[in-house]
Amino acid sequence: MRSTPEHRLSRRGLLAGGAVTAVGALAACAPDRAAPAAAPAARPVADGSAAEEFHGPHQAGVATLPQAHAVFLGLDLRPGTDREAVVRLMRLLTDDARRLTAGRPALADLETELAALPARLTVTFGFGPGLFTAVKADDLRPGSVAVLPSFKIDKLEEHWSGGDLLVQICADDGLALAHALRVIVKDARAFATVRWTQRGFRRSPHTQPAGMTQRNLMGQLDGTVNPRPGSPEFDKAVWVSEGPSWLRGGTTLVLRRIRMELETWDAVDRSGREFSVGRRLDDGAPLTGRAEHDEPDFGRTDPSGLPVISEFAHIRRARVPDPSMRMLRRPYNYDEGVNAEGKSDSGLLFASYQADIARQYIPVQRKLAELDLLNEWTTPIGSAVFAIPPGCGPTGWIGETLLG
Ligand code: HEM
Repeated sequence: MRSTPEHRLSRRGLLAGGAVTAVGALAACAPDRAAPAAAPAARPVADGSAAEEFHGPHQAGVATLPQAHAVFLGLDLRPGTDREAVVRLMRLLTDDARRLTAGRPALADLETELAALPARLTVTFGFGPGLFTAVKADDLRPGSVAVLPSFKIDKLEEHWSGGDLLVQICADDGLALAHALRVIVKDARAFATVRWTQRGFRRSPHTQPAGMTQRNLMGQLDGTVNPRPGSPEFDKAVWVSEGPSWLRGGTTLVLRRIRMELETWDAVDRSGREFSVGRRLDDGAPLTGRAEHDEPDFGRTDPSGLPVISEFAHIRRARVPDPSMRMLRRPYNYDEGVNAEGKSDSGLLFASYQADIARQYIPVQRKLAELDLLNEWTTPIGSAVFAIPPGCGPTGWIGETLLG
């Protein structure tokens, strides 16, 4: 094999403090050592000024191409916060969201410069069961916007569960996100206390072509089989078109915090990992196919007569044949750092949007809780459910169809 300058750099040499000399040697081998490299043009790699439209029949942040960062904020209304106070709160927060998503500072914004680059910021509001009680509108709460039935895999922690009001903030930039969160929390303070904040991330913009399936922290392509925004199946699966009229054009959100047991996942070999899901790790193709979007052949058996995609594989258990009955999964990874033993606190903020939780989410979750190979390495530790009201026009506010 030909010896390159890189090959001649020995690990021992670098570790023995030879790094500087070695890097110098590399530079000496460079073909054009005299000519200084031209300064790169000052061009941003991502467009921070890109803005997502706030107004419309649906709230942004659901059908929106997922941004790189998300924070889900769960608020509890303070005792005594009645209907009139919730109206004031929602008018105020809608105004904040309208301005910030357009790259303008909020009214009482003290860090106005931070608002200038929204980086596709979206702010999406959701109403939990307690909000309906506070505004005396329990009769208008869709039945399934309630605490989920308990599943035997659940190890739910109170401080990651429930909440009266959800604010989901997403952006392609962490600073835009942090600023929006700060503005919203400050303005909500007189009306509500913070129950939880859950932060998540996906690939950064431009690290891969837009629209490619993201990977979760187990290394899998996650989001292959999903309703496609703009398709009739998407509209039917996601947007509410029956039930209480105030929610038409809205949707519902199930947010589950699912811990990944990455230490024991480390012990599983590649074929075991692929077997548990029913898809290949490299390209996400079903074990019976060649490409990510090939239809899985659940009937195919191997020479010994066993199904190629196991009876207990995640994709077989989660499969819903009718595309208009599927949920939209828009998950984010979380990784909260490592403990003294080097074990990470990581997992998935599983966020699914569907027209009807009882018809679309619960049957799938029941099947997965009964049997799913992935359960060995995943544990739900948080759970919350919200009605996501429809969007509003330039003079309207989110929640007006329920509270106005
Ligand atoms: C940490 C937990 C989870 C992980 C790591 C995970 C991972 C995956 C992966 C890798 C796929 C295959 C690629 C794809 O189509 O996206 C998949 C598919 C799917 N998952 Fe999950 N998932 C998790 C939890 C859940 C939960 C809680 C639900 C619903 C209750 C769910 C519902 C689905 C559905 C509906 C599919 C598509 C199945 C199909 O029709 O092919 N997943 N998941």
